Amino acid sequence: SIQTDSNSSRTLQQPDSTVPMEAKRLAAEKAVAHVESGMVVGLGTGSTASWAIKALGEKVRAGLEIRAVASSVASEQLAQEVGIPVTDFSAFSFIDVTIDGADEVDAGVNLIKGGGGALVREKILAYNSRHFIVVVDETKLVDTLGEFPLPVEIIPFAAELTLGQLSSLGCLTSIRQQDGKDFITDNSNLIADCNFPTITAPSSLHDRLARIPGVVESGLFLQPMVSRLIVGYQDGRIED
Ligand code: 5RP
Repeated sequence: SIQTDSNSSRTLQQPDSTVPMEAKRLAAEKAVAHVESGMVVGLGTGSTASWAIKALGEKVRAGLEIRAVASSVASEQLAQEVGIPVTDFSAFSFIDVTIDGADEVDAGVNLIKGGGGALVREKILAYNSRHFIVVVDETKLVDTLGEFPLPVEIIPFAAELTLGQLSSLGCLTSIRQQDGKDFITDNSNLIADCNFPTITAPSSLHDRLARIPGVVESGLFLQPMVSRLIVGYQDGRIED
């Protein structure tokens, strides 16, 4: 049977002491080495992307000349704090390189993203980037997607109906909560977290999600979107 639990409380953005921060930092800093002067750079969202923004800020202060676009208000604020010039999208027609994290990466380098609730803007940046570099720590690697509930951005209008349609795809759904209230995205929408037993056919799921009115985007980022995957390991190794 299909259950819809719209009351569950999730706090995906809370710091987690078990998260291997050092591995995230290593991967993020490796990615920043691929940024050159003159580039337009897309800034991801989340703790790993934040390490990349901080590392980029250091390089900018040392003379690297870039223009950046941000995938969230939070990342834009961090970029400004560390001295990265953030530009309006109307200033150019493509992004040279976007650096962003992920919640899960499968063996075919398909991703689940959206743990931080920024998946729509993140996907727009990734889609419009010549190079999309994904930076993760080893805990994000999986054989098959789906252990992490798939975030889906939906509009608030008739959200209960949209949740029902999502549930009919075979998942348990809940509207993401933060501080006891609905989590609201930078686009003034809601996030439905969709807990599938497993996602064995991400491409067909992506198509079925896209057909549901009220769904803005899902957190499935499918190949060939990723140009480069950089994995940081807790023992200090980096795979690039
Ligand atoms: C935000 C995202 C993040 O990239 C994802 O949640 C990974 O976050 P972190 O680097 O903090 O583990 O998709 O919407």
